[in-house]
Amino acid sequence: MKTRWRVNAVTRQRFVRRLLRWYASNGRDLPWRHTRDPYRILVSEIMLQQTQVSRVIPKYWEWMRKYPSWRALADAPARQVREAWYPLGYNIRPVRLQAIARTVRQKYGGRLPGTKAELLALKGIGRYTAGALLTFAYGQGEPILDTNVRRVLRRMFFGNRPVSDRALWELSAAVLPRRRAYDFNQALMDFGATVCTARSPACPRCPLRSSCRAYPLVSPA
Ligand code: ADE
Repeated sequence: MKTRWRVNAVTRQRFVRRLLRWYASNGRDLPWRHTRDPYRILVSEIMLQQTQVSRVIPKYWEWMRKYPSWRALADAPARQVREAWYPLGYNIRPVRLQAIARTVRQKYGGRLPGTKAELLALKGIGRYTAGALLTFAYGQGEPILDTNVRRVLRRMFFGNRPVSDRALWELSAAVLPRRRAYDFNQALMDFGATVCTARSPACPRCPLRSSCRAYPLVSPA
């Protein structure tokens, strides 16, 4: 299918450079950024799917004490796992996480597979989570697109024009600097969560505003 937009190389480089610079001084120190263990990364990403970072942090530590490995999670009674998830909600998530842990043990000899196709075949791992695992656990450059990233890319490159997810996935891949993929993807999420927020974006202190397509459309306060 035809792509109806193009990212100019200079615009892309400026965006990448400014975002990485912003992240170097403003990125959040989060527990799952101190590990490359696929188990820990997956637990954090599944917790973060519907839940805010501040609520995930204590639960992440508690979970790691109870279930430090695929094996510990796979062997635990299902009811106890469901209870351990409380009060995060969307309770299909611990069920799927445990099913993945059991598949990892039974089918993959205790290691999460490292290809996109195998990851996507696991129930509970969609395109976003596969991209996050490949980037954060396996050091590969894969695009991501979640609510925050979608908003940042749409505002920066499309202003308020309607844009499809297909185009945003392509854009996420097009702007990704392959050798800095880890920091860049984490930066996109932090930037969307703390500066380019949904309701009251902090445009006055945004280092990207001079090249943001949405900024000229913001009415002065
Ligand atoms: N939301 C989803 N994944 C995240 C991550 N790795 N860091 C911060 N927020 C996130």
